[in-house]
Amino acid sequence: MKKSLIAGNWKMYKTPKESIEFVNSLIKNLKDYEDRDVLICPPFTSLYPISQIIKNSKLKLGAQNVYFENEGAFTGEISPIMLKDIGVEYVICGHSERRNIFGETDEIINKKVKKVVETGMKAILCVGEKLEEREKGETFKVVESQVKKCLEGFDKIEEIVIAYEPVWAIGTGKTAQPHQAEEVHIFIRELISKIYNKDIAENLIILYGGSVKPENIDQLMKEKNIDGVLVGGACLKIDSFLRIIDYRR
Ligand code: PGA
Repeated sequence: MKKSLIAGNWKMYKTPKESIEFVNSLIKNLKDYEDRDVLICPPFTSLYPISQIIKNSKLKLGAQNVYFENEGAFTGEISPIMLKDIGVEYVICGHSERRNIFGETDEIINKKVKKVVETGMKAILCVGEKLEEREKGETFKVVESQVKKCLEGFDKIEEIVIAYEPVWAIGTGKTAQPHQAEEVHIFIRELISKIYNKDIAENLIILYGGSVKPENIDQLMKEKNIDGVLVGGACLKIDSFLRIIDYRR
């Protein structure tokens, strides 16, 4: 059975102390689910202390970014082996904030995805169109180009999760309608089926991200091709994240 994935992207929030308090409370309140995985992606400074307290829980640990070399003179960067060593299982690659604020290109993201998987972790590849691109009817073209370029020369697609995150829906309170997200998810699955094969495409986890909240999670998860969500703002408060995790289809 394919499990769904509920992932929280904390972005640049919570000190290590706040992170520990939050995760202790999350563990205490988390139900035992068979059909879904729960992933948290805190800032780098909180990864190690959290890795120690989630050891005996079902929570999974992810990072929000990584560099594509193992070590070297790369001031300010964090390497995949450093992450793997402390128990990180997933790394978000190519989040739209990395693309738009820090200038990450598809070529850089491609290197990161490859390196993450080579190091034994899973990559969450983020793709999604901007508002003006959607308005010009270019959504599928943009998503296709991002998926193709970010996965170029890459064959370990089983180790990848794709997150469809329309940029206009991130942090804006404007969620994509479930059917709008579903049609892009179908498009991505068909694209992966063409590039790789049908089996791989069916097993691929495709997340939706962009203003996911307790009020819209159930509707989103009812869509056949939405296998989970990547949550920003609404994962920072314990009650709201717990309700999202506890979605009902
Ligand atoms: P949001 O962010 O839920 O705050 O819109 C989602 C994301 O950036 O992954």
